[in-house]
Amino acid sequence: MENKTVDNYLVDAQKWIYEAAANIKSKMNEPLEIDTKSNSNDLVTELDKETERFFASKIREKYPNDFLYSEEGYGDKLSNFNGTVWVIDPIDGTMNFVHQKRNFAISVGIYQEGIGEIGFIYNVMDDVLYSAVRGKGAYRNNSKLPMLKDDVKVETSIIALNSLWACPNNKINEKKVQQMIKDTRGTRSYGSAALEFAFLAEGMVDGYLTMTLSPWDFAAGKIIYEEVGGITTQADGEPVDMLNANTIFASNRNIYDDILRNYVDLK
Ligand code: IPD
Ligand code: CA
Ligand code: CA
Ligand code: CA
Repeated sequence: MENKTVDNYLVDAQKWIYEAAANIKSKMNEPLEIDTKSNSNDLVTELDKETERFFASKIREKYPNDFLYSEEGYGDKLSNFNGTVWVIDPIDGTMNFVHQKRNFAISVGIYQEGIGEIGFIYNVMDDVLYSAVRGKGAYRNNSKLPMLKDDVKVETSIIALNSLWACPNNKINEKKVQQMIKDTRGTRSYGSAALEFAFLAEGMVDGYLTMTLSPWDFAAGKIIYEEVGGITTQADGEPVDMLNANTIFASNRNIYDDILRNYVDLK
């Protein structure tokens, strides 16, 4: 992407993220309209939808040739990542949003011809904006994030993991996951994939293993994480698929091979 184009996208995306967040904050204490989607724990609120509609209208007005790939159905149906694609999760961590009124994020990734160029993850209630431009490093608000430590070992690592994957399930051998829980220093579960990626980029956790993420859950996070030296792939080590659901393993490169080889046994 040309520098001038990047600058326009950065200014607009950041402005819209802050506007969307202000709208969420102004309405989140009114009674929320909550629906369920695929199952009774899969929540969506009117504010998830309203926030996505807000981004859709801004993008279509200012960048009519761009595409939007997003969770709540106001984006475009895509069969490829040609051109410029905004990949947006209007509220990532809806369950946290509903139950905790915090620990949720707005996630915006901008891809050009399939390459992640710009990523934003905004932790709305903590007012922390993570951002990255490909090749220019990652930031936490205005501070540049350092590259990840290069002395991380499995036994001193913290892995982000939904406890679901340590229970019997049809995606991954839970016995190996249980062994990973024992062999690492500990696990954490934050309930927002975007924030888990932000925490990976900060080095707060050293890995993140999950069996079901959609592209909008990790589109921005992958860009930000790569800028500090992190690796993001599917859990079988293959490149991520930007059009479909993915298993995901993201980690510091020191432990990537070790964890994939010894603890990730997919069914
Ligand atoms: C969910 C969160 C959650 C992850 C789920 C996602 P949503 O996104 O990121 O942490 O485990 O797979 O669907 O629905 O809150 O945007
Ligand atoms: Ca959702
Ligand atoms: Ca999400
Ligand atoms: Ca969402």
